[in-house]
Amino acid sequence: MVAIKIASLAMLAFTAAFAAAQPVADAEKIQVSEPRNMGDATIDPRAITTCTSSEKKKCTNKGLACYKDADAYDPKAHEAEKRELSQLLSAINIPALIDRASHLRQGVRCQIPPLQYDRATRSSVMGGMNYHVPITFDDGIIWIARIRRFNASSPPANLRDHIIKSEVATLMFLQNTKVLVPKVYDFALEGPSNPVGVGFILMEKIPGKSLRWSIISAEQKKNVMKGIADVFIELQKHPFDLFGCLDKPGAADVGSFARESLTETVQPILSAIGPFSNLSEYHESSIKLILKLILQEEMYSQQSLDAYLIHRFLLDLIPHVVPPGGNEGKFYLKHADDKGDHIMVDDSCNITGIIDWEWAHTAPPELAFNSPMGLLSVGDFYKGDNSLGEHEVVFARILEEKGHEDLAKYVWNGRLQHRFAFCCGYDLADWDGFLGLFLGLRNVVGVDERLGWDEWKAVVMERYKDDPGVQTLLNGDDQ
Ligand SMILES: *[C@@H]1O[C@H](CO)[C@@H](O)[C@H](O)[C@H]1NC(C)=O
Ligand SMILES: *[C@@H]1O[C@H](CO)[C@@H](O)[C@H](O)[C@H]1NC(C)=O
Ligand SMILES: *[C@@H]1O[C@H](CO)[C@@H](O)[C@H](O)[C@H]1NC(C)=O
Repeated sequence: MVAIKIASLAMLAFTAAFAAAQPVADAEKIQVSEPRNMGDATIDPRAITTCTSSEKKKCTNKGLACYKDADAYDPKAHEAEKRELSQLLSAINIPALIDRASHLRQGVRCQIPPLQYDRATRSSVMGGMNYHVPITFDDGIIWIARIRRFNASSPPANLRDHIIKSEVATLMFLQNTKVLVPKVYDFALEGPSNPVGVGFILMEKIPGKSLRWSIISAEQKKNVMKGIADVFIELQKHPFDLFGCLDKPGAADVGSFARESLTETVQPILSAIGPFSNLSEYHESSIKLILKLILQEEMYSQQSLDAYLIHRFLLDLIPHVVPPGGNEGKFYLKHADDKGDHIMVDDSCNITGIIDWEWAHTAPPELAFNSPMGLLSVGDFYKGDNSLGEHEVVFARILEEKGHEDLAKYVWNGRLQHRFAFCCGYDLADWDGFLGLFLGLRNVVGVDERLGWDEWKAVVMERYKDDPGVQTLLNGDDQ
């Protein structure tokens, strides 16, 4: 879930304008008529990998490890992206940024290359949510200024600040662990007192390249998985008491979720949900938020009754998803976008660092240590197959070989958590993909097993006929 899930919650809607600015991979999964900007649907296209054509469509929805080549985009999307980025780049006060970086290194001079939107290099400098400005010092050291892309449909300033602070807090926390992450040198929020003109995080440039899972050898894959296993083992040593996001740079406090999809507007304030003290509370709160947004026509307006029934059902399914006995109230840090390109590797595929910690959050171990999205067998997963994929099996065995049967168990038993997380907030525009996921979920929990969509819908229409939300939607249709 959350991670993924959280990752999961998401994928929803963007305004038409914002959708247009996204890579095709993203645009495909966006319901453009939706007014709410959920932000999360964005995939970081930095590491574009190749995938079989049957996988292409699938993997776009939840940010799985392969997606289409960004060159397939339509020209309108280019233009919109170019406008957005040109506007962002012109808002950056370069001399102020240079001064700041140089000051932090006691006057060592540095340079920033001319910033210009360039399609050829776009994927090396930006992901869906952030743009990376390289800062090269005269002594050869390179830093990166990570700058959040912004847009009319971006979240309001208070949420943007929360997101930046949370990422910084996460990185600072991890710096004191054995997990390799970029060192943070400085950050600034947007606002009049920030001479750079935009919010930014100044960080170390991690050596190596973004992992491209689909093109490396089996041997190299194993190496990467050993590295991920070591990260899990290390993160397990650092439990938290709450389920949410780190929110204070320099401290280990867990606060509300720093993610667009997990916010609700209680006029006039946009407030983030969480933190929570257990998985049920989290699922209830996030699914009820989706139900409410559906009724307010802010999500799934094209398919509101179907979406409502699905999430109403998911709400009832929570007790089947929450591990019996609960956990011991411990939560562990989870990368929110673990599809693979967040891992930086050297030529032998040893991990040199893990980047892109935006939206990272703590989670119960069933979610925190479930196999990363990048290891799923995309095709089988979307067909509803509930057995683990070959990479997940290798990964679980690696954890066992390292003496961590406890962690391996979360991987062996992880399919249910993946399924539930994917179904919450899934973009129904990928209807075929959803049907496979949803059938797989019902089969794995043994509720409404094997029913096709029409049959299932008839069953739940009866089951939920007195639900006030269903009645509202039915009456609305009549008018
Ligand atoms: C947001 O994106 C749209 C389309 O990409 C663009 O036209 C608009 O200028 C952007 N707004 C801001 C504030 O950057
Ligand atoms: C989860 O936490 C809530 C709020 O603290 C509590 O009411 C509920 O009983 C807990 N549920 C479980 C399954 O532990
Ligand atoms: C990768 O890690 C292995 C095992 O720790 C080590 O033997 C090897 O030299 C490393 N490769 C590089 C390029 O550092």
